[in-house]
Amino acid sequence: MRLRLKKHLQSRLAVADNLLKVDTQELNSHIATQNAEWLDWKEVFHNDHPTCLEVGCGMGGFAKGFFEKFPEINLVAVEKLSNVIVSACEKCSHCTNVRFLNAGAEYLEKYIASHSIDTIYLNFSTPFQKKTYANRRLTYPRFLNMYQRLLKDGGKVIQKTDDDDFFIWSKEQFEKCNWQIIAETQDLHNSPYLEGNIVTEYEQKFLDVGKNINYVCATPPKE
Ligand SMILES: C[S@@+](CC[C@H](N)C(=O)[O-])C[C@H]1O[C@@H](n2cnc3c(N)ncnc32)[C@H](O)[C@@H]1O
Repeated sequence: MRLRLKKHLQSRLAVADNLLKVDTQELNSHIATQNAEWLDWKEVFHNDHPTCLEVGCGMGGFAKGFFEKFPEINLVAVEKLSNVIVSACEKCSHCTNVRFLNAGAEYLEKYIASHSIDTIYLNFSTPFQKKTYANRRLTYPRFLNMYQRLLKDGGKVIQKTDDDDFFIWSKEQFEKCNWQIIAETQDLHNSPYLEGNIVTEYEQKFLDVGKNINYVCATPPKE
């Protein structure tokens, strides 16, 4: 089924000042990474504050909450669908510490230099329930190895998901890749880790129907 594109999509993207204007035309992620065009956070944000990454930001609810809660931390919010990121850009036009990157996670190393990110947020990533699509899950070892390269020393990944199986599977991947799990719960909203939490659009939908929210925070092994 083809997704119906939003009205005036291209012109709305063109005027979005918070959308990073980068070349996202490469088809092969390996070639793309070899032709790196790393973004300079100092130039992008006009400050030297810490910079975090959200992968699969959807409509930008987390990014907006991040601006309200952590205005002194920069956030780069990544989303592969232009049809979706356009709403996030418009919702966050006032969020001075947020920029959007319209790219698939596979391409992150084209734009982002090694050891330049403090925290990576994976909020309700698509679980890709079919076993044959496991390599598309954002906690698949290929992605964990990439996050390890992108993170600064002491950096971490924080994952939230409603999907209990995906949560258990993700923890297995962290362990397989020798990451250290520093916090975890299967019921975030009745746990000590709720402080500082930003409720995303998907999270609110699941909270409304009483679904438990899984949470894990992990750090990569030292290189
Ligand atoms: C289930 S939605 C969650 C949206 C939002 N994070 C939230 O919690 O409300 C997952 C989002 O991740 C995006 N996504 C899935 N795989 C991706 C990838 N490889 N790279 C970038 N975005 C991806 C999807 O397009 C979708 O917008």
